[in-house]
Amino acid sequence: MNDNRIQLIDRDITTLKVDVIVNAANNSLLGGGGVDGAIHRAAGPELLAECRTLKGCATGEAKITKGYRLPARYVIHTVGPVWKGGGEGEAELLTSCYKNSFALAAEYNLKSIAFPAISTGVYGFPKQAAADIAVRETRAALKADPDLEKVIMVCFNRQTRHAYQTALAQK
Ligand code: APR
Repeated sequence: MNDNRIQLIDRDITTLKVDVIVNAANNSLLGGGGVDGAIHRAAGPELLAECRTLKGCATGEAKITKGYRLPARYVIHTVGPVWKGGGEGEAELLTSCYKNSFALAAEYNLKSIAFPAISTGVYGFPKQAAADIAVRETRAALKADPDLEKVIMVCFNRQTRHAYQTALAQK
């Protein structure tokens, strides 16, 4: 299928003017390092205040907040699995992160969404396996939702870009 609605971008996700950016959060939803830290820094303190009202988020689940000082209108916070070798349902949980994020975007009728490489930083998920899941779920979401106009996969490092390019080359 043609993937012209999928874009790879080497930018800080907090700079993207899209309907929604996805945050690779932790179960507390109270901020952290990596992309989570960057998003909270850029969005300002009101983001944390709204996150406090959400009472956390289970791994594989996703919750939505406003974007506050971010150029993006919303933030979808999803909690990826910590990689423990692959035998504890990590692939299914990461798949759920993408499915639940796309479901929330559709519920809010959002047309452009940007994802970081969820779980592939601190949480140690192998980059190629994660990219394969991200591309598979993105293709399924684009097929299911003609109103979804753009899905941006943010490549914050060379290895991530290579992993997405390899995943996109598989038909
Ligand atoms: N923009 C886009 N991508 C970014 C940014 C940014 N500003 N900062 C980091 N990244 C990339 C990382 O390079 C990696 O490719 O996001 C990807 C996810 O890495 P992490 O942020 O470490 O997220 P994750 O592996 O899911 O670990 C989540 O880290 O920050 C904590 O609170 C967070 O406990 C949670 C854990």
